[in-house]
Amino acid sequence: MKGESAMKITMGKEFDAELVLVTKDQALEGFAAILKNLQEKDLFKGEEGELFTQVDLLGNKTYIFLGLGQEEKVDEEVLRLAAFKGAKELSRLKIKEASASLVKYSGLCYKKSTKAFAEGLYHAEYRFDQYLSKKQEFLLEEVSFGLLPGKEEKVLPGLEEIEKIMEGVFFTRNLINEPAITLTPVELAKRAKETLEPLGVEVEILDRKACEALDMKAFLAVAKGSTNEPQGIIMRYKGGQEEAPIGLVGKGVTFDTGGYSIKPGPSMYTMNGDMGGSGAVLGAMKAIALNKLEKNVTAVVLATDNVISGDAYVPGDIVGSMLGKTIEIHSTDAEGRLTLADAVYYAITHEKVAEVVDVATLTGACVVALGAFNTGAFTNNEALLEKIKVAAVEAGEPLWQLPLSKEYRKLIKGDRGDLKNSGGRWGGASTAAAFIEEFVEGKPWVHLDIAGTSDIESARGYYPKGATGMPVKTLYYYVKGPKKGGC
Ligand code: BES
Ligand code: MN
Ligand code: ZN
Repeated sequence: MKGESAMKITMGKEFDAELVLVTKDQALEGFAAILKNLQEKDLFKGEEGELFTQVDLLGNKTYIFLGLGQEEKVDEEVLRLAAFKGAKELSRLKIKEASASLVKYSGLCYKKSTKAFAEGLYHAEYRFDQYLSKKQEFLLEEVSFGLLPGKEEKVLPGLEEIEKIMEGVFFTRNLINEPAITLTPVELAKRAKETLEPLGVEVEILDRKACEALDMKAFLAVAKGSTNEPQGIIMRYKGGQEEAPIGLVGKGVTFDTGGYSIKPGPSMYTMNGDMGGSGAVLGAMKAIALNKLEKNVTAVVLATDNVISGDAYVPGDIVGSMLGKTIEIHSTDAEGRLTLADAVYYAITHEKVAEVVDVATLTGACVVALGAFNTGAFTNNEALLEKIKVAAVEAGEPLWQLPLSKEYRKLIKGDRGDLKNSGGRWGGASTAAAFIEEFVEGKPWVHLDIAGTSDIESARGYYPKGATGMPVKTLYYYVKGPKKGGC
């Protein structure tokens, strides 16, 4: 892969090491005898997730058998994971080059299966080690695919596409994993500019003064206590015709102490990741621009940290917003929705987006509801959410819809101001969504709460501990739109 990594995928070369994909009880051609033997000895049966290595250090072939489970059930996720495990194993064995024969499975089109396998290989090489004196090694340099005859032309575009998508995913992970001492709002803006401008994305930066001139009072209330300059980061990608752009909005809180409603130590520790939504939006823009999608997309991030000082906002304050609605501050820790209120409103009124998807590490309540396995999804427009759901399935990034209805809307009505910034403990993910909805002017809108999925406590599947890069691929496939005629 270019840029972030070194491993490349090529076609048709035979190396001494081979990744061998085996479905359950399969008598794979060329391997029938050895597989039968392994099965009889109860060493390897081709069950999903199984791995068996036969190393021959005397110079002959090394085989890594990767179990895929039942043939009919092989899907993209199974292939991603098998490839990931295989690549990690190759690296552990200090093998630099390997080949892999890829066949067609009955439940999956060939293009998608080769793409998923490539994706899994790329996942294996991610590491965040720039602050480690001893670097984490990943030694695999090349995997050469043996494709079915005549299929190269069909699958190559998919392989190129996923390579570029993964560059977006890695960009996102690096931003999220970066500590707040380096990744200030100004640094986030700088990285957006230096990464996206060379790809043809127009990047405009709004400083505190510019945000004041735009009346972003809710955003600026959060930024008030910080000596770090807040930044509006507006990214415009024009790959389409004259149609109104799709709007992407990401929460960009570069560190969330909670403010005066301060977080206890252990829950503050990982709050450098509270810009996960903006990280995902930047990564998606990178993937979109690298793949030259023929769409117009405008992304908006209002970046600040949420810290304490003599200037910081406090509970009981009543603050304004760009839209004009006033907001009672019940918790300075419910800061994300304040920044998003102005961001979605700005995207709709100034950038004239046709529809808007916001992505945010917004609530602990969403993590309680869904854990680290599903992103929470909310909408005022079921048709738009349906498109996102289709994209999420293609991406392999699970999401689950949570309710947004008048009961929740009632809980954020204010008393001394128009709205409250917290609806209390119960149903906290839904009341947060209801708050943002107040600022979308009835435009089709989806809110993705990634508090559980953006940054994980321990490695899982092909995700490392830390930033996952979710939901970059979902955003990408949503912008791309469904391909007519399936695969
Ligand atoms: N950034 C947090 C949400 C969060 C929690 C993200 C855990 C990732 C992991 C957000 O700003 C926050 O503090 N939300 C409060 C809202 C409450 C005060 C209404 C929360 O969820 O407790
Ligand atoms: Mn908070
Ligand atoms: Zn936050």
